[in-house]
Amino acid sequence: MATREIHPSLAALDMVCVETSAPPTAMVVFGASGDLVQRKLLPSLAELHRRGLLNDQFCLLGCSRSEYSDEQYRKLAAEAIQQSARAVPPDKLAEFLDKVYYLSGDYADPATYARIESRLMEIRRKHGVSGCNLYYLSVPPLLYETIIERLGSSSLSRRNDPQCRLKCRLVVEKPFGRDLATAAALNGTISKWFDESQVYRIDHYLGKETVQNIMIFRFANAIFEPVWNRNHIDNVQITIAETLGVEHRAGYYDKSGAIRDMFQNHMLQMLALVAMEPPTSFDAEAIRDEKVKLLRAVRPFNCQWDPQAGRSIVRGQYGAGTIHGRPAPAYRDEEGVAPDSKTETYVAARLYVDNWRWKDVPFYLRTGKRLAKKNTEIIVTFKEIPHSLFGSVGLDHMPPNILAFQIQPEEGISLRFQAKRPGSKICIGTLDMKFRYKDIFGGEMPESYQRLLLDCMAGDQTLFTRFDGIEVTWKLLMPVLEAWSKSDERPPEYPAGSESFPQADALLEADGRQWHGLAAM
Ligand code: BG6
Repeated sequence: MATREIHPSLAALDMVCVETSAPPTAMVVFGASGDLVQRKLLPSLAELHRRGLLNDQFCLLGCSRSEYSDEQYRKLAAEAIQQSARAVPPDKLAEFLDKVYYLSGDYADPATYARIESRLMEIRRKHGVSGCNLYYLSVPPLLYETIIERLGSSSLSRRNDPQCRLKCRLVVEKPFGRDLATAAALNGTISKWFDESQVYRIDHYLGKETVQNIMIFRFANAIFEPVWNRNHIDNVQITIAETLGVEHRAGYYDKSGAIRDMFQNHMLQMLALVAMEPPTSFDAEAIRDEKVKLLRAVRPFNCQWDPQAGRSIVRGQYGAGTIHGRPAPAYRDEEGVAPDSKTETYVAARLYVDNWRWKDVPFYLRTGKRLAKKNTEIIVTFKEIPHSLFGSVGLDHMPPNILAFQIQPEEGISLRFQAKRPGSKICIGTLDMKFRYKDIFGGEMPESYQRLLLDCMAGDQTLFTRFDGIEVTWKLLMPVLEAWSKSDERPPEYPAGSESFPQADALLEADGRQWHGLAAM
């Protein structure tokens, strides 16, 4: 299914593109009338169809509790696809919608699954689909176990049936539990009915082009890996800053907070990619082994907090403020949020990775909602030069070299270094060498769901989290979750529209460092 293409148009870059096109697939989407399906899943599938990457043998059966006919659901899907950023031409949209069907049902009722099976047989036959069934869970997490149990005990899964004609896969959206015990219980239910090789846990950050580029950058270039260690790197900062607030998701978010919503998954996955050892191949298991190994090496949080050592993880909650000149309400005043909520909307932490490569190099991670600017970046600061030749002119210290991965919204990479400026004999300036995706590749980045959907249809688990990768992150965070849940303290407030707040800054100041400003590079 893979096609290999040498891109002819960019002489300076010999591009080797290996793109996967989807094999025949029948998809069943649980939660089909929900927000995520409308905003991400349907537009991404329609776009894959427009790009010619969806197989002709494809069909989708949406399932949820709402009552729709096939026609009504297609109309809903068409509106969702048309509202998404990319325009799909009408002929392609119509072709895609022809493959979309709908069935309403109660997820707890075994009869629903019997109806899904017979409907699926019918539409598979109609579209000549010879391949895999993909069960996609886009429902509130409290329904996961019910659906997985029912799928498993119906003939839709048939894990232990050696005669099983249809292979099937399970795709699960985050959150994967809300602590170690619930994550382990969910993994237990999944493994009762599905083999790990059939399971695709989505972390949409791993589908972002620029996140995938971390691995290519590190392991397809010879010059960075020799300096990628404690001998040369002073510290690493990983930031996910959002301008959005809790929006219409207070019911979920107020029980989760930034540590469960962003830190346990997106932040720690990016840390793993930046810091892991080189895998032996670009193979899903080899990469996932290295990520888990790295996460296991993260020094546990000490929650018997020693005031002398300073806290290594802090939280905040947004208060009222202004974003882009518009007033923004306090978190506690958002619709659906408890007026005395202690939920954090910002987390900042200092982590250490206890292995030979990273011993004593701090990794500073922060993520927050309602900040001044949307920005996701990874900043690697190198150590200062050991000796300055320019002390006689007052330059005892040179600014360090900084490598920045801009993940979004201005995708790119920059390297900061010192150079001679024209003019007097000693005239030194700091320069940034920048590569921006849009200058070279133009246009917008493909939506991460396109990559992830293609990969789960193709059976490539590289960008999906394995069960042990989930459990190791919850294990790391458990002491923090327990300490915060016992505390009566309200998280300190930061005004909406801030760039940071004193407790988060203090983490770095205690080490004689500072955050690199939002998109400072
Ligand atoms: C989701 C979180 O996983 O990621 C949201 O649940 C957050 O709260 C979103 O807004 C951020 O994703 P992105 O791709 O916009 O950075």
